[in-house]
Amino acid sequence: MAPPPKKLHIKTFGCQMNSYDSERMAEALGPSGYALTSDMAEADLVILNTCHIREKAAEKVYSELGRVRAVKARRSSLGLDTKIAVAGCVAQAEGAAIVERARVVDLVVGPQSYHRLPELIAEAEGGRRGIVATEFPAEDKFAHLPERPVNRTRTSAFLTVQEGCDKFCTFCVVPYTRGAEFSRPVAAILAEALRLAGAGSRELTLLGQNVNAYHGLGPDGAPWSLAKLIKRLAQVPDIERLRYTTSHPRDMDDDLIQLHADEPKLMPYLHLPFQAGSDRILAAMNRKHTVRDYAELIGRIRKARPDIALSTDIIVGFPGETDADFEATLELVRATRFAQAFSFKYSARPGTPAADMAGQVPDAVARMRLLTLQALIDSHARAFVQGTIGRKLPVLFERKGRKPGQIAGRSPYHQPVHGDGPERLIGQIVEVDIVAGGPNSLTGVIKSGFAWREPRQAAG
Ligand code: 5AD
Ligand code: SF4
Repeated sequence: MAPPPKKLHIKTFGCQMNSYDSERMAEALGPSGYALTSDMAEADLVILNTCHIREKAAEKVYSELGRVRAVKARRSSLGLDTKIAVAGCVAQAEGAAIVERARVVDLVVGPQSYHRLPELIAEAEGGRRGIVATEFPAEDKFAHLPERPVNRTRTSAFLTVQEGCDKFCTFCVVPYTRGAEFSRPVAAILAEALRLAGAGSRELTLLGQNVNAYHGLGPDGAPWSLAKLIKRLAQVPDIERLRYTTSHPRDMDDDLIQLHADEPKLMPYLHLPFQAGSDRILAAMNRKHTVRDYAELIGRIRKARPDIALSTDIIVGFPGETDADFEATLELVRATRFAQAFSFKYSARPGTPAADMAGQVPDAVARMRLLTLQALIDSHARAFVQGTIGRKLPVLFERKGRKPGQIAGRSPYHQPVHGDGPERLIGQIVEVDIVAGGPNSLTGVIKSGFAWREPRQAAG
């Protein structure tokens, strides 16, 4: 008789790429006999998939490890063993320091070593403790991870096409934790997209830390741009919507901008971080673009797709930022009017150049700036929501809503939408009258319940 499945609990912190990685880790451990559980208390193996982008995010790991330690102790008193692994960017950045600080950890595994998980977990099960796997192996981890199984339906799925970053913005840990830029080959991405579509996915969000720097090997032996990849993915049967994130302004090429005008399956939403609105700070950040470059770029994108919803990331309190620099950031926000924006207080990350720069901004100043910026951002976000009320929008329904009888999905502009409707509409694009909206979600009335689809692109 086969042994009962062992239980795996994964807690994911941070970005969408970590969510994607968590799924791939669960898949990689399936053949080792692990089935996922949402209840940590019954888990034989707990993986914390961690984020190192800001100090707060990194510290969460150690407080979470306290909770895991308590679970382990409780299970141990019942004669049950619990293995504990730390994965993700904190694992990569801190390596052996984690097992020194938290002896309860059996395994530390960096993002480039996930394909080795079955072997590493087997070692931990064999009694080896304090295993650290944080090297950057030469092989392509994606090629060594098992194919994604087709038995889980996810209407909107993530698909990592690119990983790592060569930009070295002076505040950012990503080039160190995720390593050098790497693009997966087109054939592997296409195969994964077909499997996802076969499993019921209707929307794909292409992921990469620098996704628009994508230059993966095409079937013709030449590197393909992100625009070319998206064009090809738009022909995959049953894939109705495509998105991509996160982009760098420097890599928004003309083809990609034009695609926002030409490709109906490419959604009118773009996350394009600018980080700071002063050229002096942008230079100190090593962003390799000016405020004017960014503003001109936005102009070209809006010309191609006038209704595009723009989103961005902004940092306040970068070393040396003066009141005038901050005012320039507000000015760029006022001029651009983002549908959504994520703003952060600068957090010095060990090992990054900015951590050692003169002119670190006092916390109280940075906090005030953040509040001021967020109030401005919120006013624009509210205005964007107001602008969609009264419109009829095609919504891709993804799941049941919070209240009985409700279903929930997203508008083309990535806004969550909920409305009363039958569950059979999940997985379909339906025309919805938007009747109300708040900061987090729009309320829609589903017209007639019939499915709405954008005209299918001709293949070829
Ligand atoms: N401090 C504050 N914010 C940061 N980000 C990246 N590194 C830092 C840091 N050291 C923000 C950037 C990036 C987003 C993912 O996180 O705005 O675009
Ligand atoms: Fe970090 Fe993005 Fe800059 Fe790369 S481009 S270093 S991921 S902020």
